[in-house]
Amino acid sequence: MRQAGRSLPEYRALRAGTAMLDACLDPEMASEITLQPVRRHDVDAAIFFSDIVVPLRLAGVDVEIKPGVGPVMGAPVRTAADVAALRDLGPLTPERLAPVSEGVARTVAALGSTPLIGFAGAPFTLAAYLVEGGPSRDHLAARTLMHADPETWRDLTSWAAEVTGAFLRAQVLAGASAAQLFDSWAGSLGLADYTAHVAPASTQALAAVADLDVRRVHFGTGTSELLVAMRDVGADVVGVDYRLPLDEANRRLGGRTPLQGNIDPALLGAPWPVLEAHVRDVVARGEQAPGHVVNLGHGVPPDTDPDVLTRLVALVHGL
Ligand code: CP3
Repeated sequence: MRQAGRSLPEYRALRAGTAMLDACLDPEMASEITLQPVRRHDVDAAIFFSDIVVPLRLAGVDVEIKPGVGPVMGAPVRTAADVAALRDLGPLTPERLAPVSEGVARTVAALGSTPLIGFAGAPFTLAAYLVEGGPSRDHLAARTLMHADPETWRDLTSWAAEVTGAFLRAQVLAGASAAQLFDSWAGSLGLADYTAHVAPASTQALAAVADLDVRRVHFGTGTSELLVAMRDVGADVVGVDYRLPLDEANRRLGGRTPLQGNIDPALLGAPWPVLEAHVRDVVARGEQAPGHVVNLGHGVPPDTDPDVLTRLVALVHGL
């Protein structure tokens, strides 16, 4: 998950002096950072070191990741003319995606039999950053736009689906074994808005890898009410955040969808017996689903003790 690397001293040492997005676009550095937590924690899969806004940068959008803040745009995208200007940037061709493809190919070669998870941001989460101009709490401007000017909203989310779909596809073509779509902010939407104004673009994004032999994972936070809709846009596996127990998520999904989740990142800072009991509970509840990918219910807090993560992986392997 995002920030997994941040708790590692070897990550901080390698990243020192390099801006986040520059690190993502340096194939050698991105590959080495991807491998660090695999070496250290003995996890069963790697997640590619990149960011959901990388395809925006590659498309020519003025975006950077400010430390402690998140993605920040040079200017917000709010009008039909703003969206037309995004279209004028041209499609994300394989040539423009070369740093990503090269980073993935290097990583897959180095990983050997350990699979690599590729990922991309979902159109709503990307559109929320573009419309707001940066991180926001309730995504008010984005939610206003979807109702005030649905046509511009549709154009914007369809553009976002194109670039993020191209980013995801490039990773799979370069050797990633799974494709995860992160709709981190979908939880700010009710089901009706999600279905009418977001699901079509998410379907479009996941369709970008539908013809490839790869499972599609769809994750959001605060999305307990949206799990069925998030599966039905074309996901094979639904990622569940830490808020909903997996047996209840499985019930909501009709018992036919493999789940991913959902250890509460807050408990990484709790005494070991508390964390251990929680992990055992997560694994027991996950057994009710037709499949369970054990991971965290959101990103690793940057101040997490890396040894706790190593111990946690060993515990899960033991179970
Ligand atoms: O853990 C990993 O290294 C996997 C790679 C990964 C990153 N970002 C690297 C990263 C993944 C899967 C992401 C996804 C991502 N990025 C999401 C979706 C998942 C989620 O967490 O909800 C979102 C919303 C983003 C946007 C983003 N990028 C935010 C909000 C931040 C945090 C900003 C901050 O400093 O508080 C980032 C930065 C980021 N992306 C870091 C990493 C390792 C931290 C960079 C650093 O400070 O070293």
